[in-house]
Amino acid sequence: MNSYDIAVIGGDGTGPEVTKEALKVSEAIAAKSGFKLNWHHFDFGGDRYLKTGEVLPDSAVDELRKFKAIYLGAVGHPQVKPGILEKGILLRLRFELEQFINLRPVKLFRSQDCPLKDKGPEHVDFIVVRENNEGLYAGAGGYLFKGTPHEVAIQESVNTRRGVDRCLKYAFELAKKQRAGKPWKGLKPEDTSAGKTAQLTLCGKTNVLTYAFDLWFRAFQETGPKYPTVKTEYAHVDAICMWFVKNPEWFDVIVTDNMFGDIITDLAAMIQGGLGVAAGGNINPEGTSMFEPMGGSAPKYTGLNVINPLAAINAAAMMLDFLGEAKAGAAIENAVIKIINTKIQSLAAGKMGYGTREVGDLVAAAL
Ligand code: IPM
Ligand code: MN
Repeated sequence: MNSYDIAVIGGDGTGPEVTKEALKVSEAIAAKSGFKLNWHHFDFGGDRYLKTGEVLPDSAVDELRKFKAIYLGAVGHPQVKPGILEKGILLRLRFELEQFINLRPVKLFRSQDCPLKDKGPEHVDFIVVRENNEGLYAGAGGYLFKGTPHEVAIQESVNTRRGVDRCLKYAFELAKKQRAGKPWKGLKPEDTSAGKTAQLTLCGKTNVLTYAFDLWFRAFQETGPKYPTVKTEYAHVDAICMWFVKNPEWFDVIVTDNMFGDIITDLAAMIQGGLGVAAGGNINPEGTSMFEPMGGSAPKYTGLNVINPLAAINAAAMMLDFLGEAKAGAAIENAVIKIINTKIQSLAAGKMGYGTREVGDLVAAAL
């Protein structure tokens, strides 16, 4: 029997509650499919920090490194200054475990959950590949004359050819595999006749960020020909924001840098029904990957059994797929689609018509 060791960081606020439902559903599909999941719980987060002053001990990073997958609920605590837990836990793990891809599938499960007029599940189905280790997140920069009227703050975007190349390679490979054998989903249907099965859009800002995105654009152009079935497109980030709203059906796979990826995936989360369903993976294809619901710790909903656990459950589905249990991952996604379409009133916290635990039970029962 296949067996998987998974590190679990429930984290702050509603993180532990939604994690519980995600683990419940994962257990249910594991039992049905005949594999075993061994959870290893870690208590990192705001409460521990407030008690001990410790965010993430060095030894923990080394311990987590031994796992192929980490499941993360949420980080962010109202009594902890913003940045401490985000940088100390989430970003530190992304960086030190070299999770250089942030993968964000954007899929609308039910028309009524999309705020866009006349758009349905057939229009909103794409995936964003966000570079996850560099760019503005690298922490390069500093102050001059801090605290004086002459203060200067500089924050630099770091883009290495190695970092960009490995991100592009991941995106091209994903585009090639992801859509093989599936219906064409690109800007121009006639391109299918030229043997293209997928479309990869580079999202950048080549007209202003003429160093960073010049590097990205050249690397993109050089990589493209190695993937003859993938049609390449380029769009500026601001235009992408318009098109996500106007024509989300134009997109298939999108690749972009860390900061733009952060921003466009929040917009994308809204058109797929909100943070109640949006999930993501921080991927190191050869090391330790980490899966998380996209929403934060939602402190005001903590302990009320009202938060939507579907994003957390979707993150678990991504994790199982990544571990090699693609059927189990797909079964969870189908169960989620089924209960959204038959039971759930709204995806918003407190408006689902069911409590957090009940939604977890419904998904587990629908498997
Ligand atoms: C995300 C989050 C994080 C980010 C925060 C919590 C540091 O917004 O995963 O998108 O900016 O990457
Ligand atoms: Mn974000």
